[in-house]
Amino acid sequence: MRIVLIGPPGAGKGTQARVLAGLLSVPAISSGDLFRAETSRGTALGELVQRHTDAGELVPDELTAAVVTGRLREPDAADGFLLDGFPRTVGQAELLEEALGKDGTVIDAVLALGLPDEEIVQRLTGRRLCPACGTTVHTVFSPPRVPDRCDGCVGPLVRRADDTEETVLRRLALYAEQTVPLLRWYAARDLLFPVDAAGTVREVSDRMSSALAAVAR
Ligand code: AP5
Repeated sequence: MRIVLIGPPGAGKGTQARVLAGLLSVPAISSGDLFRAETSRGTALGELVQRHTDAGELVPDELTAAVVTGRLREPDAADGFLLDGFPRTVGQAELLEEALGKDGTVIDAVLALGLPDEEIVQRLTGRRLCPACGTTVHTVFSPPRVPDRCDGCVGPLVRRADDTEETVLRRLALYAEQTVPLLRWYAARDLLFPVDAAGTVREVSDRMSSALAAVAR
């Protein structure tokens, strides 16, 4: 299956993408993770991208689409994928459609997570991640066994530079302005499945699995 996962920052896209990708045996491809990998490698692209991401601004459409569609050409994505956080503008969706259309490939469904802004701020200001192994935790909702240490590889946990309350509010405003129109764009194509992102990780993944079961029917 070829799935797009959309949702405001902190709604749980990355958390749910890992669960669903395992269930569907497809790679989870996150535009945010692809950008962070470039930044940590210190490439010219990474430096350019970091100026946008640290400020909570979107990376330009053409550049984002080139990075993600390049990743989609890798062999593990040939039979399906789950896109996390891309596309997030109508312009990006058009570029994706154009790139997939060349191979006659189509998107099967778009799952749209929804969560109130207050909960988003709570989730993001408490998020910590392990740069060494990619594990994500929350200081309150899923705290590590040893404070500030990764349960998996014992590396130090860090806070993302864009997870301050001020930047989160800017990211939320951009979501309303740039991504909400994209939800309408996918709804007009009968591809949109809204999913309530409140509740436990398990409750949300059960709702997503039910939505996908409806797509498969
Ligand atoms: P990106 O990394 O994609 O950031 P985002 O979309 O803002 O989403 P997040 O990663 O912050 O949140 P999430 O929804 O994945 O939540 P998570 O699962 O971690 O992008 C970063 C930046 O890159 C963007 O701001 C932009 O600059 C740039 N960029 C990326 N893609 C782009 C694009 N397509 N176009 C242009 N620019 C782009 O969960 C959050 C926290 O909540 C965690 O601590 C988690 O443990 C906890 N949690 C998750 N689920 C639950 C639950 N059910 N209950 C309690 N806690 C939970």
